[in-house]
Amino acid sequence: MIAIVLGTRPEIIKCAPVVLEAMRRGESVGIIHTGQHYSPEMDATFFHELNLPAPVAHAHVGSHPAGKQIGLMMQRLAEIFDEIKPRVVMVEGDTNSVLAGALAAYKADIPVAHLEAGLRSDDWAMPEEANRVLTDRISKWLFCPTEVQRERLRQEAIAHDGVSVVGNTIVDASLHYAKVAYDKSDIAERLKITNRPYALLTMHRPSNVDEPERLRAITAALDAAASRLGQRIVFPVHPRTRSALERHGVTLGGAFLTTEPLGYLDLLRLQSSADVVLTDSGGIQEEACVLRVPCVTLRENTERPETLHVGSNVLHFAADGASLEQAIRMMMAKPNDWRNPFGDGTTSSRVLDILGRA
Ligand code: UD1
Ligand code: UDP
Repeated sequence: MIAIVLGTRPEIIKCAPVVLEAMRRGESVGIIHTGQHYSPEMDATFFHELNLPAPVAHAHVGSHPAGKQIGLMMQRLAEIFDEIKPRVVMVEGDTNSVLAGALAAYKADIPVAHLEAGLRSDDWAMPEEANRVLTDRISKWLFCPTEVQRERLRQEAIAHDGVSVVGNTIVDASLHYAKVAYDKSDIAERLKITNRPYALLTMHRPSNVDEPERLRAITAALDAAASRLGQRIVFPVHPRTRSALERHGVTLGGAFLTTEPLGYLDLLRLQSSADVVLTDSGGIQEEACVLRVPCVTLRENTERPETLHVGSNVLHFAADGASLEQAIRMMMAKPNDWRNPFGDGTTSSRVLDILGRA
């Protein structure tokens, strides 16, 4: 069996095309869930919307400080691997679930496949950076989205036969489900924003939400910029951000229209029709590029430099309304005819062509 270890929202979305393609091909495939995300709107919703089979095993680890969370995941995954005996373990991305899945498999002598290998922000304050580097070092197959990552791996002396450039499964997922969303989602009507200018905001990185000063400053700057632009800010609030807003007593200005975390179809529908996307999400920087919506990334760096190179995305970290407004105006004024660098939506097939004969 090819075991797909995953634990968070973006992993479910980006692994889905591989799981579904493997099932179409009659490959033996099973999802092993770490339980890092567990609230229905961060987890079950996506299994349901993307028609994924239930996990063959679930570690039910939940939220803990990183060391304990990774330790518990490894312990339970070791037991699960012992029982299921997968021939390959695939992980996607850079979360704690990814590191735990890769390390537990490696220690059980099961070869590891890393989807979205070779991404680097060079920002070691991000919890994800160590997860990326360590997972790449112990993987047998490294599936890079573009040549940028293959070159980076080469610089790190990871240049063996297992490295390949296959695109990103976010293209497979977002192109397919954006069409479905067009017919099925009525989120714009539900939020009463049909034909009204709005920006879509998602924000959950510790660098934006964990410190009260930063959270207060960036939300005030977003509100000021949107008010000057005459836009609403539609903001599906990640649980980490929701608890930070409450804990720090930060209230949001009048431009904000907040919602619970949304299902994939609603999120894609909102994203496709937004004037601009404001985000610190990795996956949404890619998706906005694929869906041809200009993106302003509220970070100092990105592990997705292709989006900057093709012109779909710009970095903006300063928390002041005037410069943020300028960055948003600049992106909205650009033609959205940039090249999509993340492939043609056949990444899951390419991955399975390789893993299928492994
Ligand atoms: C994690 C990943 C991050 C990824 C993000 C996707 C790591 C280090 N971080 O960040 O790379 O971009 O997922 O969304 O792996 N919580 C809930 N319900 C849930 C899950 C979490 O309420 O289903 C709350 C808990 O209070 C928890 C907090 O959110 O403490 C943070 O969750 P955690 O999984 O630790 O990190 P994320 O910020 O979600
Ligand atoms: N997403 C979603 N609902 C939301 C917010 C995000 O379906 O309310 C999707 C989004 O379309 C993208 C993925 O979740 O495909 C990104 O996940 P997230 O931002 O949580 O993590 P990251 O990509 O930063 O690791």
